[in-house]
Amino acid sequence: MAVTARAHPNVALLKYWGKQTRAGNLPAVPSLSITLDSLHTTTTVDASQRDAVILNDELVEDAKIGTALSLWRQTLAIPPLKIISTNNFPTAAGLASSASGFAALITALNIWADLGLSEAQRSDLARQASGSAARSIFGGYVELSGPDWLAVPVAPREHWPLNVVIAITSESRKATSSSSGMRLSQRTSAFFDAWTRTTAEGLAPMREAIMQRDFAALAEQAEASCLMMHAVMLSSRPGLMYWNPSTLACLHQVRDLRSSGVPVFFTVDAGPQVKAICQPQAVPDVVAALNTVPGVLRTVTCGLGGDATRIDPELTDR
Ligand code: DP6
Repeated sequence: MAVTARAHPNVALLKYWGKQTRAGNLPAVPSLSITLDSLHTTTTVDASQRDAVILNDELVEDAKIGTALSLWRQTLAIPPLKIISTNNFPTAAGLASSASGFAALITALNIWADLGLSEAQRSDLARQASGSAARSIFGGYVELSGPDWLAVPVAPREHWPLNVVIAITSESRKATSSSSGMRLSQRTSAFFDAWTRTTAEGLAPMREAIMQRDFAALAEQAEASCLMMHAVMLSSRPGLMYWNPSTLACLHQVRDLRSSGVPVFFTVDAGPQVKAICQPQAVPDVVAALNTVPGVLRTVTCGLGGDATRIDPELTDR
């Protein structure tokens, strides 16, 4: 019988960029993220003569899914399967569709193929497919760090219910995937060593800022991590430029808001969208301000989301 699961994308506040040279898709740096609620990937797995992937209603050849399935099959009995996966947000435009996608897939697969995996094992398998996917197994505040490189929940979403306003500045697919961008940065950016050192040092203070609900400290640390990651991207050769003019205008808008007393800070991933993290009372101001920025197509407001979990497809829209 088919099984459907749903997982949410996450947004890293301490960024993952770079991999270890050992096998297993192990990150070169720790990361810390928040899981979003209103965006999601819904994935159904079912029996099939041979593997087939239907992504957003289209039959696709997805190399990343193919690689993940072969990896997982090295240790798990996974029969040929049909995967039907739908995102309610733009795919591969810097909104972490691979994170929610692989978290939903391993969660559905675990039940469908009766694999008996724990949350930690699912996180491990999701990470092998895509580093950020390890974090989407859990809701709320989530850390991915060594030595095991399994995601662990830092705090539930109720601990500090922040909001995220996403300014969509482009709906097109990104030019360079995170995986190849990371490899390029690692090989060519003169800043890469400083990045790994600074990020490792940044984990404990960020965890502490979250535990203390210290918004000013979290804002400073998260913006620093984001800008340093983009400095590493920009200093790669050839330089990786994921921003468009509207991305930069949004960052200035967020800084202006904060200067005027609105509790908000920004982060940006490997794409042109801006994620503005704010306290709930600031949402109307943040939405209004970002919607005035030229080039912003629309905004999407999220709260913090929960764990990747099985759902009843009858009870959902899609
Ligand atoms: C910029 O998890 O997509 O979003 O492990 O190669 O699949 P792979 O990379 P991926 O990278 C995410 C990078 C990021 C920052 C982050 O989410 O921490």
